[in-house]
Amino acid sequence: MTGTTAPTSSRISIDFYNATNQAVGDRDGITDAQLDGLAGRVAIEHARIHAEHAAGEQRWMDLPDDMALVDEIEAFAAEARERYSDFILVGIGGSSLGAIATIQALAHPFRNAQPNGVRIGPRLFVLDNPDPEKVQATLDTVDLPNTLISVVSKSGQTAETMANFLVARQALVDAVGEEQAVKQIVATTDNRSGLLRVLADSAGYRTFPVPDGVDGRQTVLSAVGLLPAALAGIDIRQLLAGAAAMRAATQGDDIRTNPAYLLAALSWLADTEHGKSILVTMPYADALYGLADWFRQLWAESLGKRLSTDGREVFAGQTPIKSLGAIDQHSQIQLYTEGPNDKLISLIAVGAYRATVNIPTPPAETPELAYLANGELGQLLDRELLATSWALREAKRPNLTITTPTIDAFAMGEFFYLLQLQTVMAGALYGINPFGQPGVEAGKNATYALMGREGYEKLRADLTEPVAGSKVYRLTPAAQN
Ligand code: PA5
Repeated sequence: MTGTTAPTSSRISIDFYNATNQAVGDRDGITDAQLDGLAGRVAIEHARIHAEHAAGEQRWMDLPDDMALVDEIEAFAAEARERYSDFILVGIGGSSLGAIATIQALAHPFRNAQPNGVRIGPRLFVLDNPDPEKVQATLDTVDLPNTLISVVSKSGQTAETMANFLVARQALVDAVGEEQAVKQIVATTDNRSGLLRVLADSAGYRTFPVPDGVDGRQTVLSAVGLLPAALAGIDIRQLLAGAAAMRAATQGDDIRTNPAYLLAALSWLADTEHGKSILVTMPYADALYGLADWFRQLWAESLGKRLSTDGREVFAGQTPIKSLGAIDQHSQIQLYTEGPNDKLISLIAVGAYRATVNIPTPPAETPELAYLANGELGQLLDRELLATSWALREAKRPNLTITTPTIDAFAMGEFFYLLQLQTVMAGALYGINPFGQPGVEAGKNATYALMGREGYEKLRADLTEPVAGSKVYRLTPAAQN
């Protein structure tokens, strides 16, 4: 196979040799002919995506350009970093995963444990799951008079978010009073509609917009991701600069030189031609585990669709898994190497880690450890990645390696844009609409019905009536009160 590395004009490079038939054989590996055969289709879809963008769709592509928003967020964040010791982010799915990924990658790994004055910005607590134990523990931990609550919901009506917000808000009101609480709440939501917009406008909360025309999972480069990142002291201009650089690097329609299209084509071919129905993302850096989690949602919600764009039942999608190197070498890799050969494994390598930790010479009593002497932990981790990619290849398990020279705000911006465009192109190849999430909406509606929300009476009756001819209820009695 020719050209199995794809250096881009951004700093991220891709080596997909181990995903090809040369490396793992014809049954499991992607061939030149398959990639070349897809080139025309990718070029057509590229033209369509750009035409849609020109017509005002694909708005996520424009997010790196909103410098007025950056000014506004930076001004707000600079004051808030001085004022608050704690920050509660209330949001779920696309409304929190991007912020978590960004902060995990770019802030001190133990920033919440750092003392005030050393830590940049307030401690961060995320209320995503409405798990009473976690919510209570969060409220018990923060110093409410010095806490900023940031509630994020595009729709403004997600049950988990609104419930968590009502709980956190009440705790704040109890601690500081109604008037002061208003000053300590910021809402990020749709500019015009939704219940959170109604709440924010009536109470007088400071608000930031969720832009029109983007799904929640595409909002990491909007105020949804940028505000929490700025509160944690992250350089959001560099984040957007990285995204803009990746946008510039992905303007061409060539499947072999556009890294997003290459990744989309490899994963789609692996799934549809080689039975790799699972896509594993495995960074070799703790800091990038959140990125793998963010991508897991993006890939799953965007591609997991029952209907094609022309209305056929296709049940499309490739199951995304997140793994962490080297930890999962002692867990998942056994399965990946010897279990079902149904995965494409995408390793993420880091050229230079941000810390250098030399391994001391082991005591003379353990000469077997001498091979570690004069080594360095980052070098060990990187060699573990190489070893894993080789071992997978030997077992005929297709894998590829995406390398970033380092982990910084620019690189995170590059990753966010790259993986979003990969997802949009993959959606085109599957012939489905990667936007919207009808499957998620069904569950949301059922929750409203079971919680007794007005307007959902018929669904509630349907969900809770006895199954015909049986005494068994469709849902447990506990869920029906
Ligand atoms: O990608 C999406 O649109 C979803 O995952 C949403 O982000 C998630 O359901 C939360 O929705 P909302 O921001 O409306 O509360």
